[in-house]
Amino acid sequence: MQSDRLKRLPPYLFVEIDRKKGEYIRSGGQVLDLGIGDPDLGAPPELISTLRDSLDRIEYHRYPPDRGLPRLVEAIRGWAERSHGVSPGSDEILVTIGSKEAIGHLPLAVVNPGEAVLVPDPGYPVYNSSAVFAGADPVRMALLAEKGFFPRFEDIPPRDMERARLVYLNYPNNPTAATVEKKQFEHAIEVCAENALLLVNDAAYSEISYAGRQQALFPLAREAGTDYIELFSFSKTFSITGWRVGFAIGTPEVISALARLKSNLDSGVFSAIQAAAASALEKDYDAITGRIMGIFRKRRDSLAESLEKGGFRFKVPEATFYFWIEVPGGGSSMEYCGRLLEETGIVATPGVGFGSHGEGYFRLSITAPGDTILEAGRRLEKLGASPL
Ligand SMILES: Cc1ncc(COP(=O)(O)O)c(C=O)c1O
Repeated sequence: MQSDRLKRLPPYLFVEIDRKKGEYIRSGGQVLDLGIGDPDLGAPPELISTLRDSLDRIEYHRYPPDRGLPRLVEAIRGWAERSHGVSPGSDEILVTIGSKEAIGHLPLAVVNPGEAVLVPDPGYPVYNSSAVFAGADPVRMALLAEKGFFPRFEDIPPRDMERARLVYLNYPNNPTAATVEKKQFEHAIEVCAENALLLVNDAAYSEISYAGRQQALFPLAREAGTDYIELFSFSKTFSITGWRVGFAIGTPEVISALARLKSNLDSGVFSAIQAAAASALEKDYDAITGRIMGIFRKRRDSLAESLEKGGFRFKVPEATFYFWIEVPGGGSSMEYCGRLLEETGIVATPGVGFGSHGEGYFRLSITAPGDTILEAGRRLEKLGASPL
């Protein structure tokens, strides 16, 4: 039994890859899974220790406050001030159950049925689903390599632009690993102001950067006075995808709409988890992120070297833990990934799974142990960038 809205979601595209993976394992092969972006490092001991201590606080076992634990809201404000020189008010901050939850709920709070939601293609599939669940129409914006994987708003048909209510951006980007420049965000802010669009940046990968601090949207949009919301996450930054905690910074009216919707649907994040997240921002931030990024940097460099030696065409990522690589000789990413798995045991994600403009690429994630990445690198180098 499925509602019409569930039936409007695109089919799950990775059935064939999953089947081949199972086959490879059953035949005794060692699969090297670089398919999903889920860090393998485990939660930092500092966070586990605060979480453990927080479990003894009786008040933390009750419903958490709607907007988030005051200690965490304060820690977010401090982080915003230190990192971006801007100190949002508490009416501009909302704790979320990770970035995914905020994406999923946002259109329900601010978009009407029949309106359009602009979603990046290739892109994280939840942007599309969130629009569908709100009875809105997702309109895909192509992210092209020659445009730095940033949408060309001029290419959006005027009919769709008129109906559009919200635009999703995602920088640093999954799956392309593209980063954004200040002037690109400024352009998006202008377009959104002209067209009365809510500008959303999903910044789940904001702290996974090998090139210093990444440009955030909130300092610019706040200054410009446009409606915006930027979604941050603790998941990737601290390797705690299972904890489910993130936060949003945005215009008070937008934050208030999302908070109102959420207060009718969920009751927030367990306060002990919020306290541990706060402690990470308050005092341990540099030590923890420095350690984690040291590990990702090593992995990134080793995989980049092997891919280069193998002759693959890609850009070394400056942020995120993804490599976005051209399918050798062009052609179907699904077929290539299937053959890659059969020939090398490496699980990669076909670009087409992120939208039709992802075709011709595949994605590798470095969220697997260092040895797995080294071995995958060796196999890719040996295989070389010839069509399969
Ligand atoms: C672009 C993007 N946004 C959001 C998420 C979800 O992150 P969270 O764990 O914060 O919900 C992911 C997870 O893979 C992602 O790739």
